[in-house]
Amino acid sequence: MRLFFALWPDAATREALATAGRAFWLRDGRVEPAANLHLTLRFLGDVAATQLGALREAADRVDSPGFSLCISQAGWWRRSHVAWLAPGELPAALSALVARINALEPPLAAGSNFRPHITVARRVRRAPGLAQAFDVPWTVSSFALISSDPGRAGGRYELLQSWPLAAPGQG
Ligand code: 2AM
Repeated sequence: MRLFFALWPDAATREALATAGRAFWLRDGRVEPAANLHLTLRFLGDVAATQLGALREAADRVDSPGFSLCISQAGWWRRSHVAWLAPGELPAALSALVARINALEPPLAAGSNFRPHITVARRVRRAPGLAQAFDVPWTVSSFALISSDPGRAGGRYELLQSWPLAAPGQG
């Protein structure tokens, strides 16, 4: 199964992110359904079902504080054809959470560099414009393990488990 760790928004934040995503003036591509919006912390790729228990137990040991994000940046990656939103600033607690996930034992499959973003449209081959500014507050109090299945009905992603983050200031 194809897995990744992510920040998974609550319903209100998801809707606010979907609204912010409409700030893009797209000339092609496909808008991601609101139900798919997330911020990947660590992509794991294909993980054998037999490894899932060890992965969950390792994630149980992640001890990291929660934090707040302000999603106020937007951009487009020409090569991957992705239009995205991103936090204006990276809180130290977000970097710490990613570092803790990357340090899990048993070691995770080799990962790529952390580029915090929320994909809001795919297959965007022509440079999009940006119609308006936005600033979406996102209070992050958990992280999640998600499975990705392009053929899944009703949404591409399934939240397998989420883990609470400590109240800010207690980490
Ligand atoms: P994307 O939205 O920029 O495509 C599930 O596919 C999640 O993992 C998505 O957030 C996706 O990013 C990300 N992802 C897919 N392949 C990846 C890779 N090789 N390295 C890092 N992240 C990846």
